[in-house]
Amino acid sequence: MLAIDGISKRYGETVALSDATITFREGTIHTVLGENGSGKSTLVKILSGIVQPDEGRISLDGAAFRERTPAGYQRAGLATVFQEILIAPDRSVTDNILLGLDGLFSRVVPRGRRRETAAAALRRFAVSDIPLDVRAGSLPLAAQQLVVLARAVVRQPRVLILDEVTGALDFADRESVFGLMRELAKAGSLLIFITHRMDEVKSLSDRISILRGGKVIKTEDAGVSTSEQLLAAMAPQMAEELSHV
Ligand SMILES: Nc1ncnc2c1ncn2[C@@H]1O[C@H](COP(=O)(O)OP(=O)(O)OP(=O)(O)O)[C@@H](O)[C@H]1O
Ligand SMILES: [Mg+2]
Repeated sequence: MLAIDGISKRYGETVALSDATITFREGTIHTVLGENGSGKSTLVKILSGIVQPDEGRISLDGAAFRERTPAGYQRAGLATVFQEILIAPDRSVTDNILLGLDGLFSRVVPRGRRRETAAAALRRFAVSDIPLDVRAGSLPLAAQQLVVLARAVVRQPRVLILDEVTGALDFADRESVFGLMRELAKAGSLLIFITHRMDEVKSLSDRISILRGGKVIKTEDAGVSTSEQLLAAMAPQMAEELSHV
């Protein structure tokens, strides 16, 4: 469904991504696992049209994908929840969820249905009630994260990219987000799930790619490697130290 081929991105001396090639299939949860600084968020920003790669190609549905702007990626059905919680603190929760959905000349969601649409998006995974009319900036961090997730979900994306979104969430919220991910994948969407947490990988993933130092070390079906093998591929030094404990 979506493929990156030979993608490289440098920031001055730093090679954030180096000749990265991954094929993502529809209807799967594809985890990208890597340590801090391995290039995960750079990949996410490239797949959102925010960062342009120095080299390489992206294809969607087998055809070269030439969009260059975040709006172009969104039009093609890709939605991203970034690692940093991007919220408009002074706008309501409803406004934040529908942010960017309204066109320049037409309201996609009629005024009378805005609250209802926002509430329905949140209900798909939020465990606790989140008030719709308060300033989004007044919410605790976990609730803000769920609002940002709802903003992506309300677009009914074909490709949903989640960059380390579970950090602020408690166990119950995290499980319900995972539940929604499974549901979306079952319905045919592609979920790209970015994490450095091994415990999240096993139960959730259909496919796993490992990034290290900007390189794709491998892509394989979940269950092929043990957690120890994944750790050894992701962080050989850490795996080595742990083996002596
Ligand atoms: N805008 C930038 N300018 C300079 N260097 C950058 C920039 N963005 C990323 N880098 C560097 O590129 C490398 C990859 O960064 P990236 O954010 O993609 O890693 P990551 O895997 O998402 O890490 P983390 O787990 O900490 O989120 C790092 O060395 C980082 O310092
Ligand atoms: Mg990152």
